[in-house]
Amino acid sequence: RARLAILLSGRGSNMLALVEATKTGVLKNLAEVVVVFSNKPDAFGLEAAAAAGCPVASLPSQGRKREAFDAEAAALLQQYQPDLVVLAGYMRILSPAFIQPFAGRILNIHPADTQQHQGLHAYEWAFENQLPETKITVHLVDEGLDTGPILAQQTVDLRGADSLEEVERRGLAVEHKLYARTLAELIEVGAGLAPARPAAP
Ligand code: GAR
Repeated sequence: RARLAILLSGRGSNMLALVEATKTGVLKNLAEVVVVFSNKPDAFGLEAAAAAGCPVASLPSQGRKREAFDAEAAALLQQYQPDLVVLAGYMRILSPAFIQPFAGRILNIHPADTQQHQGLHAYEWAFENQLPETKITVHLVDEGLDTGPILAQQTVDLRGADSLEEVERRGLAVEHKLYARTLAELIEVGAGLAPARPAAP
């Protein structure tokens, strides 16, 4: 089973959807969550991960230099020997110190088409521009901001969504399914993964 390290900075709804998928959904027998990590020790998502029975770890990023923090975070995560590093609302731009040890094995979910919108506040952007639809994107992470190769996209119909909350509600429902499904496909193909481990008896 592929070993997933899930990284978050806040609420953790994508993390919970992925954990659920490893237990009863499309990731069952394909993946296990070996750690949920946060750069914010008080993130709600860490508490939720612990309550869901996941190993958790954190390292405060506040006040730290990016490269030094990233090197330390990467070293901490390497102890868990993840096959894939799964960003789920991890609100940091990653420096080479983090990316290099996991090159080609870091995924992100972005709540917009990364070819149209990068960075923060993607749902606000869609809502304020009254877009009739937006596109959730799962992509590999490289050293740019939301520039890595796209693995999967799914359109969200925003017609009639008359509040930011409604835009987010529709978007998150798609995020939660798309991320697990994309990971399952990636793991099944075996792209970029270490040789499969024998299944537990
Ligand atoms: C999600 O909408 C995710 O796509 C977004 O943050 C939210 C985290 O929610 N990520 C980004 O905007 C990355 N640029 P969650 O903590 O409930 O999963």
